Amino acid sequence: MDENILKRRSCKNYLQIPIEWSKLVNILKAGSLAPSAGNLQNWKFIVIQEKENRQKIANSCLFQTWMNQAPTYIIVCGNFQMAQKYYFERGNMFTIQSCAAAMENMLIEATNQKLGSNWVGAFDEQKLNEILEIEDEWKIYSILTLGYESEKTEMPNKLELKDQVYFEKFKENQYEASLFPISNLKNEINNQINKTKSEIIGQKNKIQKKIEENKKKLLEE
Ligand SMILES: Cc1cc2nc3c(=O)[nH]c(=O)nc-3n(C[C@H](O)[C@H](O)[C@H](O)COP(=O)(O)O)c2cc1C
Repeated sequence: MDENILKRRSCKNYLQIPIEWSKLVNILKAGSLAPSAGNLQNWKFIVIQEKENRQKIANSCLFQTWMNQAPTYIIVCGNFQMAQKYYFERGNMFTIQSCAAAMENMLIEATNQKLGSNWVGAFDEQKLNEILEIEDEWKIYSILTLGYESEKTEMPNKLELKDQVYFEKFKENQYEASLFPISNLKNEINNQINKTKSEIIGQKNKIQKKIEENKKKLLEE
């Protein structure tokens, strides 16, 4: 399996340093190479780097202040009217899906470039339209935050594959869990290892604290 798919995490901790131009270009290129309905590529990617603009945007994302740490945002917007010309009502859904494909490609490439990233979908659309001067036939679908991670983000709980997959029909033909082998097992083992690691670190910190306390007491006596 592609390592970047496994490694990608939604990061909310960034170092306050800019990202290299070449990395940004590769990420944008990855977005532009995503599949799109009818190959319309009816998207635009707006790169935001100015501090003041980032602040305004973070405030419009329901005050997700963690976003201010990220040195770069990419706003993904799609031209739903263009898709409607070809696909009528389904044009809206196709545009959402195409923009989501571009977004995911960029997240994976960001991981490949050793950068942290996050998908932001919670925002006040009206406010953002005003800030970014979005034209009528365009709609903002998502915002990607980018930057160097200041601390590693652990994988959150993920459902097991056996609980997410059906075969042939909805709710049918669930195979035995044992038939979903290694990748699932690996995931479980990694989760367990991470859990044990944090338990050990917790214990270690407690012991260290106790030692320090005892040392202090001894010195006082
Ligand atoms: C459509 C969509 C909208 C999201 N919106 C937000 C958001 O507004 N703020 C945020 O912190 N994370 C947002 N996320 C990220 C999810 O919280 C994250 O993907 C989830 O917790 C799983 O973590 P992982 O990405 O590390 O696997 C969004 C993800 C998606 C796909």
